[in-house]
Amino acid sequence: MAMQRAATALLLLLPLLAAAGTSTLPFIVLHGIGDQCANHGVAHFTKLLAEWSGSDGHCIEIGSGTWDSWVMPLQQQADIICNKVKEMEQLKSGYNIVGLSQGNLIGRAVVEYCDDGPPVKNFISLGGPHAGTASVPLCGSGIFCIIVDALIKLEIYSDYVQAHLAPSGYLKIPTDMADYLKSCRFLPKLNNEIPDGRNATYKERFSSLENLVLIMFENDAVLIPRETAWFGYYPDGAFDPILPPQKTKLYEEDWIGLKTLDEAGRVKFVSVAGGHLGISKGDMKKYIVPYLVDRSSSEKTRSVSDLLGAAWHSTREALGLTEGDDEMLYSRAAL
Ligand SMILES: *[C@@H]1O[C@H](CO)[C@@H](O)[C@H](O)[C@H]1NC(C)=O
Repeated sequence: MAMQRAATALLLLLPLLAAAGTSTLPFIVLHGIGDQCANHGVAHFTKLLAEWSGSDGHCIEIGSGTWDSWVMPLQQQADIICNKVKEMEQLKSGYNIVGLSQGNLIGRAVVEYCDDGPPVKNFISLGGPHAGTASVPLCGSGIFCIIVDALIKLEIYSDYVQAHLAPSGYLKIPTDMADYLKSCRFLPKLNNEIPDGRNATYKERFSSLENLVLIMFENDAVLIPRETAWFGYYPDGAFDPILPPQKTKLYEEDWIGLKTLDEAGRVKFVSVAGGHLGISKGDMKKYIVPYLVDRSSSEKTRSVSDLLGAAWHSTREALGLTEGDDEMLYSRAAL
């Protein structure tokens, strides 16, 4: 009986599904370090967001995923994504970005640097090291991590490490700001931190986002400090106190337009339970999905997608496919 109801619901929905597919903006997912689109975690995460929002979702890969996310300089990773999004016909009239950890910096580089790229509307960031991180992520064991550890033990701001270890591009040791500003190749430019190197175009592009959702994990032990997910950080020269985003120079002097966006009510500072990237399904529905559903579409389209969402849910329920909202879906220990 339940199966029959579900099947009928699906049949009725097929034409609607086709119609709704064209009314929402697609989104891309940029994964974190040591991850790849083929992994179950990020694949499932992308699929659920697509189902719940009724939007087309794509996890976009950079090179070999796991390996390249560690060893390819972030600028190069961002250039690859910039070229890919330009080639994707379905993104032409705009798209949303969902970033996981390090993937957020790549996404932000795409927003700020990608000349002639399709417009980015909403940017949803989960555990992004936006203001840098003061500690290198744990790699683990195995031959690959032995290489990574050896690199980390060298000078972090040396040309060699900057060219061979992606996270060195956003390692920001507050007591070594001079070296950071001079030799760290990625984040100082991305954040318009270099006094005589600021580019107004980056600010203009970043502040044109419709919404910036910054999700911080209350028990994040990977990002040091975890407030970096909100652009909070240590003051220059010391490891305390942790400054809230609004008290940083990046915000006060509005280097990249964060203040502009915030004053326009377009920044959502969200704090959720869980460790790094350990978001629950309930929180995904609450804080991510609403930004993936196209708000500019007509009432009619919206009610169709609402109907779809509800019907889809009850279909899954009837089939016994739904899981609890508090379950931690995406939980990893890396950046
Ligand atoms: C600023 O960035 C834009 C976009 O990448 C670039 O076209 C422009 O040349 C840059 N301006 C300066 C002064 O570097």
